[in-house]
Amino acid sequence: MAGIAASDADVVALLMRQHGDIRNLFDEVEKTTGDERRAAFRRLVQLLAVHETAEEEVVRPFTRANVPGGDQVVEDRLKEEREAKELLSRLDGMDPDDPKFLPELLSLRLDVMAHARAEERYEFNHIRRHADQARLASMASALKAAEAMAPTHPHPGTESAAKNLALGPLAAVVDRTRDAVRKAMGKDG
Ligand SMILES: [Fe+2]
Ligand SMILES: [Fe+2]
Repeated sequence: MAGIAASDADVVALLMRQHGDIRNLFDEVEKTTGDERRAAFRRLVQLLAVHETAEEEVVRPFTRANVPGGDQVVEDRLKEEREAKELLSRLDGMDPDDPKFLPELLSLRLDVMAHARAEERYEFNHIRRHADQARLASMASALKAAEAMAPTHPHPGTESAAKNLALGPLAAVVDRTRDAVRKAMGKDG
């Protein structure tokens, strides 16, 4: 987003940058084919898993406690995330070169981007206005710990099926992300 310096201590800037990374990965999946598309789609799945898990741990508790009508806002976002996850796992079981893959991907993209806009409007704005410095800093360090789990910017040509496989199944990515986020926020006990 223009005008926002992506300061490492700015949790909202970090979240917005991840929304941008997600959008770019959708672009990449759409414009590639075969193994390249498979690799880009793996990165998209990883980033979505990491991003949504971090939001569950970092953003949702803030919203519940600080945003007027926060419980309803959280329910709405969780519903959108559940629906996206279902579509994502359907796509995950498809051959990326199947003619049905791109229409399904586009549908996921529209859902994910509408979800991201709702977060920016109903949650991130409140974080920016109402979170104190200490809270912002602890949220930012949690986000950075989560981001370390998602290889969004691989060097071209270094990606391999083996490397992707080594990242493990999605449930494990979610678990590792949650552990890293909780540890960064000092709640791992
Ligand atoms: Fe989300
Ligand atoms: Fe998000």
